This record gives sequence, C-alpha cells and structure tokens, in this order.
Amino acid sequence: MSTVAVIGAGYVGATTAACLAWLGHDVTCADIDATRIDRLAAGQVPVLEEHLADLVAAGLAAGRLRFVTDSAAASGAADFVFLCVPTPAGATGAADLSAVDAVCRRIAPHLRPGAVVVNKSTMPVGSVRRVASALAEAGAVPGRYGVASNPEFLCEGRAVRNFLEPDRIVIGADDPAVAERVRRLYREIDAPVVVTDPESAEMIKYAANAYLATRVTFVNSIAALCEQVGADVADVMVGMGHDRRIGSRFLAPGPGYGGSCLPKDVAALTHVAERVGADADMLRAVMRTNERQRRRVVETAKRLVGGRLDGAVVAVWGLTFKAGTDDLRDSPALDIAERLVDAGAIVRAYDPAGGARAAVLVPGLDVVASPYLACKEADLLLVLTEWDDFRHLDFGRVHQVMAVPAVLDTRNVLDPDLLRALRFSYTGNGRR
Ligand code: NAD
Ligand code: UGA
Repeated sequence: MSTVAVIGAGYVGATTAACLAWLGHDVTCADIDATRIDRLAAGQVPVLEEHLADLVAAGLAAGRLRFVTDSAAASGAADFVFLCVPTPAGATGAADLSAVDAVCRRIAPHLRPGAVVVNKSTMPVGSVRRVASALAEAGAVPGRYGVASNPEFLCEGRAVRNFLEPDRIVIGADDPAVAERVRRLYREIDAPVVVTDPESAEMIKYAANAYLATRVTFVNSIAALCEQVGADVADVMVGMGHDRRIGSRFLAPGPGYGGSCLPKDVAALTHVAERVGADADMLRAVMRTNERQRRRVVETAKRLVGGRLDGAVVAVWGLTFKAGTDDLRDSPALDIAERLVDAGAIVRAYDPAGGARAAVLVPGLDVVASPYLACKEADLLLVLTEWDDFRHLDFGRVHQVMAVPAVLDTRNVLDPDLLRALRFSYTGNGRR
C-alpha cells in the first residue's frame, strides 16, 4: 500500500483517485475547485461516469480516500503525486501547461524525500524534464524526488472500467527504480506494462490519440464517398473490420470527432511536428477534414429543409461529444446546433445528460426535456449522438408531432427500414 496524492479531481483525477483507493492505496485527491471537493467529499460525483460514485463511496467508507483543497499538504504526505490537471490547447495549438506549472510551484517545497511525481495529464514530449526542472526551481531538493510519465488512456463514460482493465499501462522514466515503483502501484491490474524512456511514453499518448482521430476521419471520408458512389458504409465497415489487422472497433461514422482530448491532442502534436520541422501534412489534413465534416452536416440539414435554414424548425437529439457522457467540451453536436441557430433555424434540442449546460453555452438554443418535445412541429430531426435510448423511442409518436417527417441520422443509430415503413424520409451517414 502506498500513500498517493492526486492533483485535479476531474474525469481523470477523480477516476485515478477512486481506482487507486480501490486497489488498496491511501489516496488524497486535491483540487482548487472547492465546490467540486465538497461534493466529492460528500460522495457526490460531479461527472457522469459509470461505477465512479460506487468507488468513491467505497473509498470514503474505508477511510482510504479523501478530498481536499490543499494540494501542498496532500503532496507533502505522499510517496506518489499524480498530476491530473488540464492541459488544454493554447492559442497556437500547443498544449497549455500553465496548470501543471502552477501545481509544481505549489507542491515543490513540500515534497517528501523519495517522492515520485507522476505526469498523468497528457503532456508533450519533454514534459517529464520540464516538470523536474519546474520542481527544482520552486524549491524541491534535486536528487531527492523522481518524475515519471504515466499517460492515461481511459475513455469518458467508461473511465473506471478502462482504468481497472486497461489495454496497457505505459510508464516512462529515466530511472528504472522510479519506473519500477510506479509499476508496483498497479500490481493488482492484469495488463501489459510498457516501460520506456520519458519521451517515448509521452509520444505514445499523442500518437495513440492522433491515430484514433485519423481513423475516425478516414471513416467519415469513406462514408462521404459511399454516398457519392452508392455504397453502404455500414457494410463497408463490417467488411473491413473482419480484417484482423484493422479490427471492427472505432469505425463508426459521425459528425466528426470531438471532446476534450482528440482535437487538442492532434493540434498539439501538429504544433510539435511543425516546431521541429517534421512532416505535419497528414495531421493538418485530419484537422481540416474533421472541421469540414461539421460543415457537411449543416449543409445536408439545409438541403433537407428545402435549402433555407432561416426559420426552419430543427429537432436535435444529442448534444454531448458522444453518448454515455455529460461532457460538452468541443462537442461536434453542440457546435452544429450552434451553427444552425446562427443560420436562423429554430433549434429544439434534447440530450439525456448534457442539456441544461448546453442551454447556457448556446444562447438561442431551446433545450427541452424529452425527445418528443424536441420534435414538435419540426421540419427535420437531426441525430447527433449515438445514445442507445434513441433507438427505442415511439417513432409513430415522433411522426405525429413533426411538421415534416424527415430524419438526418449522422450516427446511423436509427433503423432505416422501420423509419421508412413509418413513412419517414430517412437520410443516414454514408448509407445507401
Ligand atoms: P478536467 O477539466 O475534467 O479536470 C481537471 C481538474 O483539475 C479540474 O477539476 C480543475 O479544477 C483542476 N485543477 C486545475 N488547476 C488546478 C490546480 N492548479 N491545482 C489543483 N487542481 C487544479 O480534466 P480531465 O478531463 O480530467 O483531463 C485532465 C488531463 O488528463 C488532461 O491533460 C487530459 O488531456 C488528460 N486526459 C483526459 C482524459 C479524458 O477522457 N477526459 C483521458 C486521458 C487523459
Ligand atoms: C479519447 C481516447 O479514446 C482515449 O483513449 C483517451 O484516453 C482520451 O481521448 C483522452 O486522451 O482524453 P474520449 O475523448 O473519451 O477518449 O472519446 P472517444 O470515445 O475516443 O471518442 C472521441 C470522438 O470520436 C467522439 O467525438 C466520438 O463520437 C468520435 N468517434 C469515436 C466516432 O465518431 N466514431 C467512432 O467509431 C469512435
């Protein structure tokens, strides 16, 4: 059992803290957001994450998990300090490490001899060295602490499962003893462990996210091409996915990739490539094509309402960046809804998890409490996230309340045969 401080109590920090406590460690999680900390200390999880509330409750009850606002005190009592603070894209696309720097300044003078600072936030190549120097500059005694990269690969909505049953654990450290100590924290987890140098560990994280973004972009491009040539992307992806070199996961077309990570990590990797003079053409093309995908959805919606969005009534189902989360950060769905509002459409949206905050973020967006209310007098139903609930609605009732029974299903979640039998005009994404 080790004593661990986790700095940052967001999707990654709260999950890391609760899971490490579940694995038997003594964990203190610190965040500057006092409201968030009060809620977590009372067992209320501020984000939608399956199983997280149960693990937080179990950790609190066992006395192995606590939530505080004082990151210095938490770090001063810890053998390991996990940095789980945001690293958003700055103005140039480069990762903004100001939160990491602020934490280093705050915790450095308090680190115990032998403490290991673990970079779990996504940070560009060179960040282990940068954190080591920032700690030294802020008063940590050189040679008495270690720094390692241990990037996180969890997906929102499945964070706890991904943390406890990961595809792999990656640890990057110059000192093999430091890497071994980090590895031992995870000894209860059965997964391949990749131990490497800091730069390679940091690059693994960016390369993985850039690959996933490229894969989604590729699928979206093939879907668009399928529409032009009369092929059906659903069958094409099944046929491709059987190839074991390709695999069938992460091959669903949609309105473009979004969320708090893929967009910012592709931008940050592009920035690094440009800075060192490496070829960034492919990454730039991925970003461009992904942006075009959002516009493509708006253009198709416009065509389906008769060529004029101004005054058209559009029902939107789904506002978060994907199903299973309440996260609206860089959500293609929210962005598309906003573009429709800006074009003069009357947009009534329903989302099972992120609706209330969406209404605040996009003035003019009418967020309603049910999928049927969203469809009232609508000229088009636009499906933007792949919530399973959408499949099982009463489409007879949907048909009744709409002014024009037309559906644009960017995620291919609805059953085209059922909808056509009910006399909807159905447009999928890349479908025949
Ligand atoms: P988040 O915004 O949900 O949470 C970050 C938390 O850090 C917030 O609660 C914020 O109040 C807190 N914070 C900010 N500055 C602080 C400071 N100086 N001291 C203490 N707390 C501070 O972010 P997240 O989604 O958990 O992402 C965190 C990092 O993990 C990012 O680098 C991200 O790229 C990476 N990551 C995220 C995911 C994901 O699915 N969200 C997955 C893998 C990696
Ligand atoms: C992603 C990665 O999958 C995680 O491994 C990584 O840890 C995380 O980013 C991160 O670094 O933060 P996440 O942001 O939760 O996880 O979302 P994904 O499930 O990867 O989806 C990203 C975007 O791609 C979403 O907008 C989603 O709708 C879209 N997508 C995904 C598709 O359009 N089609 C697919 O087949 C898969």
